Amino acid sequence: MRSYALGHSINKLVHGCDYNPDQWLDRPDILSKDIEYMKEAGINEATLGVFSWAAYEPVEGEYHFEWLIEIMDRLYENGISTILATPSGARPVWMDHKYPEVMRVDGMGHRNRHGFRHNHCLSSEVFRDKVRTIDTKLAKIAGGHPGLIAWHISNEFGGECFCDLCKEKFREYLRKRYHNDINELNHEWWSYFWSAQYNDFSDIEPPYINGQNALMGLKIDWRRFTSANYADYISVEIDAIREASPNKDVPVTTNLMQRFYDIDYRELVKKIDFISWDSYPAFHNDHERYEDTMMESAFDHTLLRCLKKDRPFFLMESAPGHVNWMNYNKLKRPGVHEQFSCQTVASGSDSIQYFQWRCSRGGAEQFHGAVVDHSGTDDTRVFRDVAHLGEILSKLSEIEGSVKRNEAAVIFEWDNWWSIDVSGGFSRETKKYDITCLNHWKSLMPFGVEADVISVNDNFEDYKLIIAPMLFLIRPETIEKLKGFVENGGILLATYMTGYVNENSLCYEGGFPGDGLKDLFGIINEEIDTLYPSDKNGIRMENETLKVKDYAELIKLIDADVIGTYTDDFYKDMPVITCKKYGKGKAYYQAARIENEDMVKLSGKLLAESGIKIRELPSGIEYHARYGDDCIYEFYFNIGEEAVEVSRLNGIDMLTGKAVDDSVTILPGKFIVLKSK
Ligand code: GLA
Ligand code: ZN
Repeated sequence: MRSYALGHSINKLVHGCDYNPDQWLDRPDILSKDIEYMKEAGINEATLGVFSWAAYEPVEGEYHFEWLIEIMDRLYENGISTILATPSGARPVWMDHKYPEVMRVDGMGHRNRHGFRHNHCLSSEVFRDKVRTIDTKLAKIAGGHPGLIAWHISNEFGGECFCDLCKEKFREYLRKRYHNDINELNHEWWSYFWSAQYNDFSDIEPPYINGQNALMGLKIDWRRFTSANYADYISVEIDAIREASPNKDVPVTTNLMQRFYDIDYRELVKKIDFISWDSYPAFHNDHERYEDTMMESAFDHTLLRCLKKDRPFFLMESAPGHVNWMNYNKLKRPGVHEQFSCQTVASGSDSIQYFQWRCSRGGAEQFHGAVVDHSGTDDTRVFRDVAHLGEILSKLSEIEGSVKRNEAAVIFEWDNWWSIDVSGGFSRETKKYDITCLNHWKSLMPFGVEADVISVNDNFEDYKLIIAPMLFLIRPETIEKLKGFVENGGILLATYMTGYVNENSLCYEGGFPGDGLKDLFGIINEEIDTLYPSDKNGIRMENETLKVKDYAELIKLIDADVIGTYTDDFYKDMPVITCKKYGKGKAYYQAARIENEDMVKLSGKLLAESGIKIRELPSGIEYHARYGDDCIYEFYFNIGEEAVEVSRLNGIDMLTGKAVDDSVTILPGKFIVLKSK
């Protein structure tokens, strides 16, 4: 069974853009040029209405949707579908002035004034009512339009509100979580230190910047609550649309962001039908190589795709040229748009979409790149790049709906991330949980192995190898699941900072890693050393030496084999990489952080143990695969600086239509897509 992002096949890859015609309603010349140019650029989708509340409802209760329907009709007549956003990303001025409670309160307790966007209080029933009303009207009017292919809820949810309404809801959340027992909460938050005990739930405040900030449990529960509140809020919008829309089958998404910290995305996406996200890699920066930016981009696609890993995702926004919000806004070098976009497809996306179609003359994003820039013509480098990509995507259209099948996985958990950060100690500079997961993921790529990025709640049976970097916060259920995975033949790697705390950030007693993990890995971790960037240490593993950085745990063996030992310092010769046979599988423990280039050596060993098929790829080549019903689509990207010959290839080159048998030379910045049985 193929599963499609949209729930059904549209037999094409979507090539689309955020389209904000509400800026040009008095310019029929521009509106008709837009359609002409969209067709020329191979644009087959436009995302409308992302911030159109003031255009729909300029004063309270007065609605104007005519312009929207006219534009949707015109797009549809020209073969361009619509993804329609609900307008709750920004509020009209009348609302804030009449109902100030809809405006967010910041971490110092100050209420915002009207302006900007996204800064609402999601607990406010007034705001929820207003949203429900506008969404209902919109869904009734546009929800049955034949051009509508998806709903886009609001825009890039994020941030927190510290108002009294949110505070009260937080208390309610805690009452449930701690069974209405304040002593249970005091115990789990360890409030016995610094006189932090609460007498009643009504004593509790959110972690204001200038307030209670010293309780780990409070800070993590606040983030959990905020995530739950977003999920609750998004239901309001989804329910309103589903109820009012004449067509109930139009799937729903919301646009997510890169490794976004504030919200546990797994909580947020429960009710949406497919994942979409906005990707803006900082290409050509001054601190990393192009290939590192590309790998990071592939990891980010994977993390977000795996939020619903049985189906493709959409790239809801990307910059056709440059952005306006980075410190330095570089132009995308020639060819980069094409390679980045095809990497996105290779990573499981069924769409490439842009922010935005046409540059704004004014407003906050007037100097953000767009498909059509201020010159207003199709005769620009960026426009030609976009049109060229349109041709490529149409050649790859049958890839739509194909899926990924990975046998390795890296665990990534939001509450673990928060817990690592809110716990003091270690080093302020180098915890970098997300980057660490990225680096482990990346270390499999030279072997042509893509890993899924999963939650501890996902099914482990789908995998042969699981890497669990820095799983600091761990629940007893997860410990049992990991044991079961290894017992049944899985290969597991855990690292330094595993199993220090329970789900409320309380340290495990009896030494780390907590409880059953000592039995699984056959080691006990006694101390952790924090390394300055200038400190040097290494790991002797077989005939190699691996460089160590940032963290080094001192571990004692219980019943594991030693795979590597430290080369320096007072812990020279002590074990640092260990392995224990456990049931039919093996549990590896890596007690120190390894430099990226050396991590590949350990990953090679793990892959060999796991029996996952590896490919010999020349350096500089990034490989991805997608699976159709009875065929495989393989992508080879040259992300290095030299031309590279890739051999033992077989299949049809989808861009040239020619058969490939054996080797192909791929120039830097280029790629091939092969289809085979
Ligand atoms: C985000 C937003 C868009 C726009 C772009 C600019 O992704 O969703 O509205 O601001 O950034 O890069
Ligand atoms: Zn609030």
